[in-house]
Amino acid sequence: MKRFDSVDDVRALIAEWREAGGTVALAPTMGNLHKGHMSLVARAAGEADHVVVSVFVNPTQFGPNEDYEDYPRTLDVDARRLSRAGVDLLFAPSVETMYPDGVDVATTVNVPGLSDVLEGEHRPGHFEGVTSVVCRLFNICSPDVAVFGQKDYQQFVILRRMVADLQLPVRLVAGPTEREKNGLAMSSRNGYLDKDQQEMATAIYKSLQQAQTELLDGARAYTELEQFAEERITAAGLGPEYVAIREAEDFSMPGSSSTDLVVLAAARLGTVRLIDNLTVKL
Ligand code: PAJ
Repeated sequence: MKRFDSVDDVRALIAEWREAGGTVALAPTMGNLHKGHMSLVARAAGEADHVVVSVFVNPTQFGPNEDYEDYPRTLDVDARRLSRAGVDLLFAPSVETMYPDGVDVATTVNVPGLSDVLEGEHRPGHFEGVTSVVCRLFNICSPDVAVFGQKDYQQFVILRRMVADLQLPVRLVAGPTEREKNGLAMSSRNGYLDKDQQEMATAIYKSLQQAQTELLDGARAYTELEQFAEERITAAGLGPEYVAIREAEDFSMPGSSSTDLVVLAAARLGTVRLIDNLTVKL
């Protein structure tokens, strides 16, 4: 596996692959890789001839009081894992490489509307940071396919809209959420939790499952279902930020004849913020 931090090196290698007729899949990450990330890497390998993984803790998607400084950085361990998985290229740029003139004056990409609700409401500016960095990564790597996790459902929907709106020549693929045995969605932030807290945190998934079951059983009192779910999360000792049942396509409010829904939740456990979601086809 090659490991580059320069844009020119990445472009040169990818150009070589393309000249030989090869296709490229990109899996963007912020590192501290777990099984969820690795499932995307495996998916990427099934989608194209060459797999590129980027590891970049993107400062512009963290709010001023969030965990940018503390975010776990384990690049050497990640690199070994990626190499064993057969990844062709690890792109691990510095902040200076991604934002040569500094983050404050950097050009941004914004997907209005979708970025302002749910996670966007609780993390102002977060999605603009995500779309801006992913657009840069697409321009650097020119992938045929890019793979993202359903774990960050809203992120995927926003990136899909960005790709469509800017007519970017890349196909997006979503991989399913990998979970611990107890149901907790895998996340780099789970490492901030002790064993007991990891057990408490399963309340998020359980409450989503309950809402999903009730929707499948015919319940349509969306607000009530959201409240039940929030109460269950509260009863487990977490602080729910929201549980929301929305149209899966665009997060608009569902009606009585909706068929494709998503139930999304965000909750705090101590200082740690966790998110999860489940889609529901009626
Ligand atoms: P990060 O949180 O490192 O996640 C990288 C990718 O892994 C994302 O597509 C995310 O949805 C996926 N992922 C995370 N946990 C997962 C799980 N349990 N199962 C399956 N996939 C999972 O998301 C980001 O980084 C950043 O916002 C990024 C897109 C890299 C832009 O900076």
